[in-house]
Amino acid sequence: MIKVEHLVKEFNSGNKAFKAVDDVSFHVNPGEVFGIIGLSGAGKSTLVRCLNRLEEPTSGSIVIDGVDITGLDDKRLLEERRDIGMIFQSFNLFNQRNVYKNIAYPLEILKKSKSEIDSKVNELLKFVDLEAKKDSYPSELSGGQKQRVAIARALATNPKILLSDESTSALDPANTEQVLSVLRSAVREYNMTVVMITHQMEVAKNICDRIAVMENGKIIETGTVDEVFNNPKTERTRTFIQALPDEARDLTINRADFNGKLFRINFPNETTRQPIINNIAKNYDLTVSILSGNINYLASGNTAGYLNVELSGEDSEIEKAIIDMHNNGLRVEEL
Ligand SMILES: Nc1ncnc2c1ncn2[C@@H]1O[C@H](COP(=O)(O)OP(=O)(O)OP(=O)(O)O)[C@@H](O)[C@H]1O
Ligand SMILES: [Mg+2]
Repeated sequence: MIKVEHLVKEFNSGNKAFKAVDDVSFHVNPGEVFGIIGLSGAGKSTLVRCLNRLEEPTSGSIVIDGVDITGLDDKRLLEERRDIGMIFQSFNLFNQRNVYKNIAYPLEILKKSKSEIDSKVNELLKFVDLEAKKDSYPSELSGGQKQRVAIARALATNPKILLSDESTSALDPANTEQVLSVLRSAVREYNMTVVMITHQMEVAKNICDRIAVMENGKIIETGTVDEVFNNPKTERTRTFIQALPDEARDLTINRADFNGKLFRINFPNETTRQPIINNIAKNYDLTVSILSGNINYLASGNTAGYLNVELSGEDSEIEKAIIDMHNNGLRVEEL
């Protein structure tokens, strides 16, 4: 659906060139929600803005549905852009237009008939569950409602792809969930392919099929949501996972309060039902104390859980227990 190869975007600041996107390659399959996660300044917005050429790439290729969009003239580019909807953190609604008129806008531009516009707008109002608000103005809506209007407007021209740049960053958890739920339905009911930029792992774990982690203009890690959670390959990815609210709280442990060694045992979906603690305590000369733990529910329907434990005993026994856990598909890190 989307194939990006060796994409570079340079900005010139003074007489120095700076690569905001630095040789990035990835693909997105049809019907997939592809997440791009990274810290502020990593180059995420610049990257998605290149996908519809709101930003002109410096070099590299972007093929969308078989069309290399980097080579298109202005007229063909406008046509292609109809296939690519976009939503933003700041909603970008027209404040002088009511909800109905906001959603109708792209269809008015395309000079669609009044009845065609009416039927599409009503369909979309129902889809985003805002039929009751169709005469309201943006200033009368909550953040989540505004973003749902923006999604409906983005879907009005039946695009195949939706680019979402931090669309939930300004929302509280309840509104975030409503927006994510609408995006999930868009994938299901309108066969959308979604590229989801976020700095919140919480959002990525709830909706993405695959995730790319971006740092300093480069993609440093890509994988399914399960792979990334169960086996993060880079320190940056681990930091994102550990910044999840539950995990961040768990890491406030004061190591000096413990005599034994502290470990984090990560258990992917298929290992969740193993009697981990029982096995260690029974088979090794060790005492196990549970400090904290949690299970992350992933968009795939699978889970990625972890337990933070204190193991007390001889180092050699601890080592044997760790090898045993590794052999059973668990990943163990010393804290
Ligand atoms: N038009 C521009 N001219 C010069 N530099 C730019 C321009 N747009 C972005 N940059 C720089 O490119 C880098 C990447 O910016 P970008 O907005 O893509 O980051 P981001 O990952 O989206 O960050 P955030 O999470 O804060 O939105 C930053 O260092 C930024 O200052
Ligand atoms: Mg950004």
